[in-house]
Amino acid sequence: MTIKIKQFVLLKRPVGVPVESNFSLKTETISGDLKENELHLRGIYYSVDPYMRGRMNGAKSYVAPFALNEPISGAVIARVVESKKSGLITGDFVFGQLPWATEMVVDSSSVRKIDVQIGKASDYLGVLGMTGLTAYFGLLKIGQPISGETVVVSGAAGAVGTIVGQIAKMKGCKVIGIVGSGEKEKLLKDRFNFDGMINYKSKDDLVHLIKNACPNGVDVYFDNVGGEISDAVIQNMNFQGRIVLCGQISLYNSKEIPMGPRIQPILLTKSILMQGFIVSNFTEQFPEGLAELSKWVKEGKIEAIETIIEGFENLPKAFIDLFSGKNVGKMMVMAKDIAL
Ligand SMILES: NC(=O)c1ccc[n+]([C@@H]2O[C@H](COP(=O)([O-])OP(=O)(O)OC[C@H]3O[C@@H](n4cnc5c(N)ncnc54)[C@H](OP(=O)(O)O)[C@@H]3O)[C@@H](O)[C@H]2O)c1
Repeated sequence: MTIKIKQFVLLKRPVGVPVESNFSLKTETISGDLKENELHLRGIYYSVDPYMRGRMNGAKSYVAPFALNEPISGAVIARVVESKKSGLITGDFVFGQLPWATEMVVDSSSVRKIDVQIGKASDYLGVLGMTGLTAYFGLLKIGQPISGETVVVSGAAGAVGTIVGQIAKMKGCKVIGIVGSGEKEKLLKDRFNFDGMINYKSKDDLVHLIKNACPNGVDVYFDNVGGEISDAVIQNMNFQGRIVLCGQISLYNSKEIPMGPRIQPILLTKSILMQGFIVSNFTEQFPEGLAELSKWVKEGKIEAIETIIEGFENLPKAFIDLFSGKNVGKMMVMAKDIAL
């Protein structure tokens, strides 16, 4: 086997919002025969995720930083071109943390086979993958919404946000979504039956907008964005409210974390729980979460929406576009050449 592949490496660490020149597309040749347990894969769907911005900084966090001039890696759905692993055959779909490369040779232990009878292949990057599990465990285990309560979710038209909103509706809650455009407000209302929407880019005072949308106050706040949006929601929290700290995308490109209001007196006097989490905290319970999410998808109770950008070359742009809200639902890139 001798194949020419393309792969994206991190050329320069971004300062502020990433730009395309932070990435470089390289051509490489892979040659030689597969060894026992190895797979030759072709990438089909590549996930772009806000957390990857943190990995582009040099500092160590809960995941190691990307190395300069090395391939970026992330969640990828690939197909098996050739297999030296029993149980995996040409054409099978697999999921793994894989390089941003058009094709790759990997040890089979780095991927798992996915069942495209349960959901379509791309669902495993969204509702049946990290996205769905994040929404499921964050909302249900930390937020613990009760029927009749008011749930506010920021980043509401995004990958995690749309799933959080739908689960909260299923649990009988009143759901208010915070988004960055009128089109996204309309999507939440028409497609997902949200009870209220707030455009954080409107000129009006956010604290008042939230107060008007939540006349009974906020019981659960699922925070995907942080910053001033979250400051405003927290002003409207109820006694014994729960704040689920899932993401802080509004701060990921900040050179310095801005000083916000002191919220501890609100947390204290209202007995509010505020808890951060990383989805991997729940790894042992993933089978439970996936079983439930798969059932809801099959029953049509959850609809997964996606923004799929065609063309491997568009990976850096798709990633960058997350920070200006160009996506609805799960943002991913699909390779053009997906035939085996
Ligand atoms: N804790 C975990 O384990 C875990 C796992 C997965 C994701 N997350 C976090 O969850 C959040 C959502 O992730 P996702 O994959 O579902 O992404 P996403 O919501 O699909 O995409 C990002 C969205 O964030 C909004 N946004 C971008 N910049 C913003 C800003 N400055 N202020 C307010 N909103 C902004 C944009 O929507 P608008 O048009 O509405 O601005 C954009 O569409 C992220 O913060 C991510 O890091 C955490």
